[in-house]
Amino acid sequence: MSEKTLPMGHGDLLELAYQLPTPFYLYDEKAIVDNARQFNQLFSWAPGFRNYFAVKACPNPTILKLLAKEGFGADCSSLPELLLSKASGISAERIMFTSNDTPEEEFLAAYELGAIINLDDITHIETLEKAIGKVPETICFRYNPGKNRTGNAIIGNPVEAKYGLTDEQIVESYRIMQEKGVKHFGLHTMVASNELDGSYIVETARMLFDLAVRIKKETGIVIEFIDMGGGIGIPYRPDQDAMDLQMVSDGMKALYDEIIVPAGLDPLQIVFECGRVITGPYGYLVSKVLHVTKKYKDYVGLDASMADLMRPALYGA
Ligand SMILES: Cc1ncc(COP(=O)(O)O)c(C=O)c1O
Repeated sequence: MSEKTLPMGHGDLLELAYQLPTPFYLYDEKAIVDNARQFNQLFSWAPGFRNYFAVKACPNPTILKLLAKEGFGADCSSLPELLLSKASGISAERIMFTSNDTPEEEFLAAYELGAIINLDDITHIETLEKAIGKVPETICFRYNPGKNRTGNAIIGNPVEAKYGLTDEQIVESYRIMQEKGVKHFGLHTMVASNELDGSYIVETARMLFDLAVRIKKETGIVIEFIDMGGGIGIPYRPDQDAMDLQMVSDGMKALYDEIIVPAGLDPLQIVFECGRVITGPYGYLVSKVLHVTKKYKDYVGLDASMADLMRPALYGA
C-alpha cells in the first residue's frame, strides 16, 4: 500500500492557488533532494555510481540544477535536452546522449558538448562518423536482448521494440569501433518502464554483466561502465507498493561480486538514467475546479487539460 500526501496543508495550498495563476506544477524541493541523496546512498557500493537524470521526465532547469548539486548528471535524448542541460550548468562528462533515429546535427552537437554518446543502432556508427568526421574516444551501445528477455507492459516485448542493437549486432559493433580507434566503452540497455518489481531490474543487471564478460572474451574490450537505463516505477495507485530499492541494490551487488569481479572487470562503473522515480512522487499539478456537472455520470471540470498532464489519456493513469 502507498499513501499519497500533500507537501503543504489545504489552507496553504488554497492560498497559493489564489496567488499564482492555475494550473501550475508544485515541486517539493526538500523531498526531491532527500530522495536523490538516498538513491546515491543506496548504490554507494558501486564504483563511480551516478544517476544521469532523464531530462524527458521533468525538463525543468531549476530541478536539473538541484540534482546536479547532488552529483547527478543528465540523460538527454534530443538537442533541446542537451541545450537545457548545458544551460543548467551540468558539466560535459555528466551528460549522456541516449537517442534514437538521431540526425547528424544532433550527434555533432552532443560531441561538441563533450557528452557521452550512446548509439542505438549499428547504422548510427556511419552517421556519427559522418557527423563529427571521426570516432569519439568513448562510445556506448544500447543493447536489445530480443527473445532472450521478456519486456514489461509499457516498453513491450524487446523483439517488437525499435530500441537498441540486436544480440547478433552488439559484439560486432564493439569490434568495429575498436578497429576505428575508440578507447573507452560503455554498455546500456532499457527493457522496462514504470516497473515495480525489483527483481526485473536485478535480472537486467545480470544480463548486462554477462554480456560485458562475453564482450571481453570475444573482443578483449574491457567495458568501463554499465548503464542500466531508467524504468524504475512509482506507485500511482493506493494498492501498489514502491519498488524495494534496497533489494535491488543488494541483488546487484551480489551479482557484481559473482560475475564482474572473477571476470577481471572490477572496477566497473555502474550508472542509471532514472527520471520518474527521482521526481515523480514529488510533483503536484495544482488546478482549480471550474464546474461540477451531473449528467448520466458526474464530471469535475478543471482549468487543466491534457496539455498539462498527458498520462491519463496515454496510459489510463
Ligand atoms: C533511454 C531512456 N533512459 C531513461 C528514461 C527514463 O525512464 P524513467 O523515467 O522510467 O526512469 C527513458 C524513458 O523513457 C528512456 O527512454
